[in-house]
Amino acid sequence: MGEYSAAQKEAMKKEAGIAACDFVKSGMKVGLGTGSTVKYTILELGRRIREEHLDIEGIPTSDATELISIEQRIPLLNWEECTGLDIVIDGADEFDPNLNLIKGGGGALLREKIVAESSGGMVVVADASKQVDILGTFPLPIEVNPYGWEQTRRRIQQQCEGDVIVREKVQGDPFFTDNGNLILDAHFGPNIDAPLDLESALKEIAGVVEVGLFNEMADIVVLADPDGCQMIRKDQARI
Ligand code: A5P
Repeated sequence: MGEYSAAQKEAMKKEAGIAACDFVKSGMKVGLGTGSTVKYTILELGRRIREEHLDIEGIPTSDATELISIEQRIPLLNWEECTGLDIVIDGADEFDPNLNLIKGGGGALLREKIVAESSGGMVVVADASKQVDILGTFPLPIEVNPYGWEQTRRRIQQQCEGDVIVREKVQGDPFFTDNGNLILDAHFGPNIDAPLDLESALKEIAGVVEVGLFNEMADIVVLADPDGCQMIRKDQARI
């Protein structure tokens, strides 16, 4: 929880999650991220649909988000009928000064990256504990195919000085993603100073399905701290 209490963190998540809804207008197709911060975005979008007749359609980035979105009566699209999204709003585990991200703490990185790549703009919702100078304190989630994952782990380990640990749901019981894959959490430490190179190198390993580095994708971070909310905008942000 870092320097913030659980209650402070929850309040910051809520503030950032709701503030990001200002970017959503009627007529938009919206990527709906995953996690405890963007949950507040989804709840607020649901409220605006019901009370203010906001007219949007969404694509969820996980089974969990799909469930919340249905509860909120957000109309959902599938990929057969959708060739692109106007915007995605999603959380992050860390973001650096270039707005490069680590994502995947909730295990939804593959769908999150497919949605982010398909979106005309990406808004990240974050509390102050997510802001870092250099990525890597948060272990980097890497989604891998279950076949030969032990060997995939060895190959990842060659690039990571810290431990590379298979994520577990409970002790001895591996966590499987919505796509039936495993997650390896790679403990790089705060030294990912060339995230684009690292992402390319890891994606060259055959068993790696996706890497939780979201480089040059985010346009804006809606950052909440105990004093309020600020927007950190990338140069040449698309939105
Ligand atoms: C889900 O896989 C992640 O990428 C989340 O978006 C990220 O972990 C942020 O989640 P919280 O908002 O719950 O911290």
